[in-house]
Amino acid sequence: MSRKIYVLDTTLRDGEQVPGAKLNLNEKLEIARQLVKLKVDMMEVGFPSSSKGDFEAVKAIGQIAGKDVMVTGLGRAVKSDIDAIYESLRGAANPMIHIVLGSSNVHMEKKFSKSPTQVLEMGVEAVKYAKSLMPQVQYSLEDASRSDFEYMWKTIEAVVKAGATIINVPDTVGFAVPEEFGNLICKINDRLMNLNPNIILSVHCHNDTGLATANTLAAIRNGANKVECTINGIGERAGNTSLEEVVMGIKLHPKYYRGETNINIEEIYKTSRMVSAIMGLDVQVNKAITGENAFAHSSGIHQDGLLKSKEVYEIITPEEVGAPPMEIVLTARSGKHAFSYVTKKLGYNIPEIIEPEVYKSFLTMADQKKEVYDSDVMTLLESYTEIT
Ligand code: KIV
Ligand code: ZN
Repeated sequence: MSRKIYVLDTTLRDGEQVPGAKLNLNEKLEIARQLVKLKVDMMEVGFPSSSKGDFEAVKAIGQIAGKDVMVTGLGRAVKSDIDAIYESLRGAANPMIHIVLGSSNVHMEKKFSKSPTQVLEMGVEAVKYAKSLMPQVQYSLEDASRSDFEYMWKTIEAVVKAGATIINVPDTVGFAVPEEFGNLICKINDRLMNLNPNIILSVHCHNDTGLATANTLAAIRNGANKVECTINGIGERAGNTSLEEVVMGIKLHPKYYRGETNINIEEIYKTSRMVSAIMGLDVQVNKAITGENAFAHSSGIHQDGLLKSKEVYEIITPEEVGAPPMEIVLTARSGKHAFSYVTKKLGYNIPEIIEPEVYKSFLTMADQKKEVYDSDVMTLLESYTEIT
C-alpha cells in the first residue's frame, strides 16, 4: 500500500544559512511562489525571532502560500522565539510552529550546561506553550544521530504527550550512515506506532560526508513519512538533503520506498535554476538531476546506444523534470552515428562519399579540444565545398 511522503522544503531557512546567500523579501517571495508551484507540502521560511527581516519574510510568505502548503518558522525552546513564530504566522492559512532543542550529550553539556532532565522539561514546556497557540507543532531533536536512544525516546514520548504533531530526527552534523540511521528510524517508528500512529515521523539530514540523500532514503524505507530538504541541496556547511534527488529516488522505486510524494516534478529544473540565480550559488555541473551535465552524454558507446533508444542509458528523461532535452556532446570519443546526428541537427547534408573523410577531420580537431562546440563543427563543415 502506498503512503504519502511529505516534503518540507527548508531552502528559505537552512538553505539561506549559506554564507552570502541572504535574500531580500521580494527574492524570498519569488522562491516561495515557485515552491508552491512545485507542490511542496510544507515550507520552512525563516527564524522569526532572529531579525525583523526574517519575521517580515515569514509573515509575508505565510500570507501568500495558501492552505495547501503548511508554512513554518523555526525557533528555540524558549517563549520569546515561540511568540515570534506565532506572531509572524497567525495570519497564515496553514501555519506550524517548529521548535528545535538538542538531545545529544555534547549539546546538553557544552551548549546549554543543563542536565538531560532539565532539557527534557524545557522541551515539554515549549511544546505545551506552542500547542496553546497553534494546533501544528513540530519538535526537532537536534543532533539526534549522536544522541542516546533511550533518552531520545523519553523525550519523544513526553513531547508527543505535550502536543507535538511532527517528530523530526535530524542528522545535524552529517554523522549518520544509511544502515544505522535506517535502524534508528525503524526503532523510533515501531514505538511511535504504539504511542500514537498519527504522528508524522520526519528526518532532516546534512551532507557532510555526502550521505544526506542516502540517509534520508534509508529513513523512508524504515518508516519515516516526511523529509526535510532544500533545492540543489544547499544549506549549512556541505548542505542539506537535495529535494530533487530524494523525490526522484522515491519516484523511481515506489515499491521499495512504499510511498510517493506530491511534488510536481516538471517544476524541478525551473526551481533549481531560480534558486541558483537568486542566491548566486552555482549548481555543480555533475549534480544529480539538475546539473548541466545530468542529461548530457559524451562517450561514444553511450551516444550510440541512446540514439538507438533513449531507454538504454536514460532512467529519467530531462522532459520529466522540465530540463532542456538530452544533449549529445561531441568529443574525440564520439562515433560516426553521433557525429552524423549532430551535423544533421545543425542542418548540414554531408554527401556519403566524403563522410569517412569528414569524420576523420572531425576526430583530428576533437583530439585538440576539451569540448567541441557547435561552432567548431560548423567551421569544419563550411570548409568543404561539397557540403550543403
Ligand atoms: O540541522 C538541524 O538539526 C536543523 C534543525 C533545526 C532541524 O536544521
Ligand atoms: Zn539543518
